[in-house]
Amino acid sequence: MKAILLKEYGLPNVLEIGEVAIPVPNANEVLVKIHSASINDWDWGIVRGKPFVIRLFFGLKKPKIPIPGVDISGKIEAVGGNVRSFNIGDEIYGDLSECGCGGFAEYVCVPEKELSKKPSNISHNDTSALPHAGLLALQGLVEMGKVKSGQSILINGAGGGVGTLGIQILKSYGVKVTGVDSAEKLDLMKSLGFDSVMDYKKVDFTDTGEKYDLILDTKSNRSVFKYARSLKENGRYITVGGSMYRLLEIALFGSLIVLFTGKKLSVLIHKPNKGLDQISEFVEKGQMKPVVDGPYGFDKIPELIQYFGEGRHLGKIVIEIKK
Ligand SMILES: NC(=O)c1ccc[n+]([C@@H]2O[C@H](COP(=O)([O-])OP(=O)(O)OC[C@H]3O[C@@H](n4cnc5c(N)ncnc54)[C@H](OP(=O)(O)O)[C@@H]3O)[C@@H](O)[C@H]2O)c1
Repeated sequence: MKAILLKEYGLPNVLEIGEVAIPVPNANEVLVKIHSASINDWDWGIVRGKPFVIRLFFGLKKPKIPIPGVDISGKIEAVGGNVRSFNIGDEIYGDLSECGCGGFAEYVCVPEKELSKKPSNISHNDTSALPHAGLLALQGLVEMGKVKSGQSILINGAGGGVGTLGIQILKSYGVKVTGVDSAEKLDLMKSLGFDSVMDYKKVDFTDTGEKYDLILDTKSNRSVFKYARSLKENGRYITVGGSMYRLLEIALFGSLIVLFTGKKLSVLIHKPNKGLDQISEFVEKGQMKPVVDGPYGFDKIPELIQYFGEGRHLGKIVIEIKK
């Protein structure tokens, strides 16, 4: 089968397109024929081995992940002897970040617990855009953020995967949502339902004096105290990503700030595939449809990871692997 091979850390042009054997599932796994995959910050990090903390998990000098790629949508071709939830022919999707990756290939073996049935009303290309970013949004806004109707909410870095899916989750709650991103993404954000938008290169949302009940941040890069100032009484700030220094600062000072002000500031630890059936429900009710950049062909994966890293994408970059 065709696969993208990661033999050393570096810019995405170190990736090779090669041929490897189709894997064989163990008793708890299924063999998936991958129709589509999407690109995530996770891929950009694993390919470069940056930030350094990635190397503590995936190999200090050389990557232990032979084939990157976390988000997939496809069809089951074979099942292991202990598999109970799926049969050959089932259409599934999921996030492989906790089971060794391998999504940038024609086939992958996946433990059955990492997969859900694909929503019936959208294509594999659309489906592959959902797992990683959709669950960061769901876990941040609903599970941890406990969004309630009538609230005033801000998403920072709102024109990427998390923000463009997050706004669609929020629409069903009757809330007012502000989105912050670069100028090129603001029209798309308005079309998705953001009530107001800001260009982060022109306006620092923590300096406007506006306060929010809930802030979801995909790119924390300011002081924890500035974020606390932008929250209403008992407000919540949840970050899913940003500079390592800022994430440590939020984890450390967040627990002190809540004692003195009641405002909660925390770092979300992503739980892959937890809540994926809820994402399918949003999609099947017609409340969520990913914004897809693409679909592109398999051979373009290395340059698309670079394109992602440079922040030039709109929504989710999708690769069609097999029709
Ligand atoms: N917590 C966890 O366990 C966990 C797990 C996986 C991933 N993550 C994190 O989750 C985040 C993924 O978000 P995503 O998939 O939505 O990424 P994305 O598609 O790259 O979107 C991020 C958006 O933020 C914008 N941006 C860049 N710098 C900004 C700034 N200073 N202020 C405001 N916006 C800015 C980017 O636009 P421009 O580039 O045009 O400026 C881009 O549109 C990443 O930070 C990733 O590291 C967290």
